[in-house]
Amino acid sequence: MILETARLRLRPVASSDTDALVRLDSDPAVMRFVSGGAPTPREVIEDWVVPRAQAEYRAHRTGMWTATDRITGGFLGWFALRTPRHSNCAELELSYRLCRHVWGHGLATEAAAALLRMSFQQICAERVFASTMAVNMPSRRVMEKIGMRLSAIRMSTDDVVFGSGGGEVEYELLRAHWETMTMSWSQPDPRPWTGGRHAVADLTA
Ligand SMILES: CC(C)(COP(=O)(O)OP(=O)(O)OC[C@H]1O[C@@H](n2cnc3c(N)ncnc32)[C@H](O)[C@@H]1OP(=O)(O)O)[C@@H](O)C(=O)NCCC(=O)NCCS
Repeated sequence: MILETARLRLRPVASSDTDALVRLDSDPAVMRFVSGGAPTPREVIEDWVVPRAQAEYRAHRTGMWTATDRITGGFLGWFALRTPRHSNCAELELSYRLCRHVWGHGLATEAAAALLRMSFQQICAERVFASTMAVNMPSRRVMEKIGMRLSAIRMSTDDVVFGSGGGEVEYELLRAHWETMTMSWSQPDPRPWTGGRHAVADLTA
C-alpha cells in the first residue's frame, strides 16, 4: 500500500533501501535516543529489519514504509506500524526515523497522521501506541500533535535509584478518541465568519 501526503511518498520498504537505511542509522544524532548514538550494523538491517518488515506487510499489511520526497524521490527516512507479537488486541505500534537534514519541518507529523488514519480506517486497529525515551522531546511532540495521549511512564531501577533522568514514555490513541477527533462537526466550519452581531441576532430571533 503506497501512501501519499502533501510532501511525502510512503512505500513498503524494499531490499534496495538497505544502503539508505544503513546511512540513516550511522548518524549519531539520529540514533541518540534509539541506541545512545551507536549505528545499526548493516547485517542487522539486511538480515532482520527489512525481511521482518516485509513479512509483516505480507501477513498484516503493516511493517515499514520508506519515506521519500514526493518531488525529488530522495530518501528521507522511514515510518513503521508493527503488530506486537504478544498482544491479543487489535493494536499497532507506531515508530519513525528521519534524516537529520529534514527535521523540524513537520514531516514526521504529516506522515504519522497519515499512518494513523490508515491504521483505523483500513487496518481496523482499536489502539495505536508509540513509545520513546522520556527525554526525546521531538518524538513526544509528534505523538502529541497527532492526537495521542500519554498512557504510561516506565522507569528502570537505575532511573529511580540514581535519578538518571531516563525512563520511557508511551502514548496512545484509541479508536473512539480518533473517531471524535475526525468527526465532521469537530472540523473547522468552512462557512465564512459573519461577525458576532449576526450570531447574537440569530440567538435572539
Ligand atoms: C522524532 C523525529 C522523527 C521528528 O521529526 P520531525 O519531522 O522533525 O518532526 P516534526 O517537525 O513533525 O515535529 C517536531 C516537533 O518537536 C519539536 N521539538 C524539536 N526539538 C524539541 C525540543 N528539544 N524540545 C521540545 N520540542 C522540540 C518541534 O518544535 C516540533 O514541534 P512544533 O511543531 O510544535 O514546533 C526526528 O527528530 C527523528 O528522526 N529523530 C531521530 C529518531 C528518533 O528519535 N525517533 C523516535 C524514536 S521512538
